[in-house]
Amino acid sequence: MLDLIIVGAGGFGRELLEMVGDVFAPNEYRVKGFLAQDAAGLREHGIDLPLLGDPEEYQPQPNERFLLAIGFMDVRRRVVEKLTEKGGQFATFVHPQARIARTATIGVGAVIYPFCVVSNSATLAPHVHMNYYSSVGHDCRIGQYVLLAPYATLNGFVTLEDEVYVSTHATVAPGRKLGYRSKISANSACMQDAPENTLVFGVPGRQVRRID
Ligand SMILES: CC(C)(COP(=O)(O)OP(=O)(O)OC[C@H]1O[C@@H](n2cnc3c(N)ncnc32)[C@H](O)[C@@H]1OP(=O)(O)O)[C@@H](O)C(=O)NCCC(=O)NCCS
Repeated sequence: MLDLIIVGAGGFGRELLEMVGDVFAPNEYRVKGFLAQDAAGLREHGIDLPLLGDPEEYQPQPNERFLLAIGFMDVRRRVVEKLTEKGGQFATFVHPQARIARTATIGVGAVIYPFCVVSNSATLAPHVHMNYYSSVGHDCRIGQYVLLAPYATLNGFVTLEDEVYVSTHATVAPGRKLGYRSKISANSACMQDAPENTLVFGVPGRQVRRID
């Protein structure tokens, strides 16, 4: 029996808890609790699993597998690095109602929600999150920690470098490349390549470089 630990106790973490039994066989996995700095109202949501501690301080055990449920890009990488350098292992969560092409590659620690599509020969690096109804077109290359919000759409041959954030209902045109830590605003259409740390917004997408 392996112990699953959800890293993040907000709305994202509660969503994962709801779906965990769809993905992991209950005779092989049980949910041990959450890692977070505070309980974020778990009790008020009727969840009585324990808060096991701060994810950056936690000492992983060999029979534990972590599920990343943190949306803040800054925190995603930091928490994964802290846990993995202490031997922590992340589970990969691919909901059975997602459609993943046989030729696609899904990196360890991915969290892929129902109704997502990953098309032919697409590659997802470790720790990518795809929220409901988001899609990755054929031959896309998706970097580490990338987060696709609900209904985000990547057409074929798109490249997203690490830590890109694509907001809800945003679209990236075929073959475009978005640099490290770019963000596409909600409902926007990214028609051109964007360098790192760029915010893209509107239709067609206008680009603003940001120093942070
Ligand atoms: C991309 C996004 C996350 C960027 O957030 P952020 O880093 O906090 O940046 P801001 O929203 O403050 O936007 C920065 C600037 O761009 C402007 N901007 C952003 N999106 C815009 C848009 N669609 N149209 C016009 N201006 C826009 C903002 O007004 C702001 O201008 P200012 O600096 O003059 O005030 C945010 O714009 C967004 O789309 N949020 C939705 C996220 C989402 O999909 N959540 C679902 C989670 S499941």
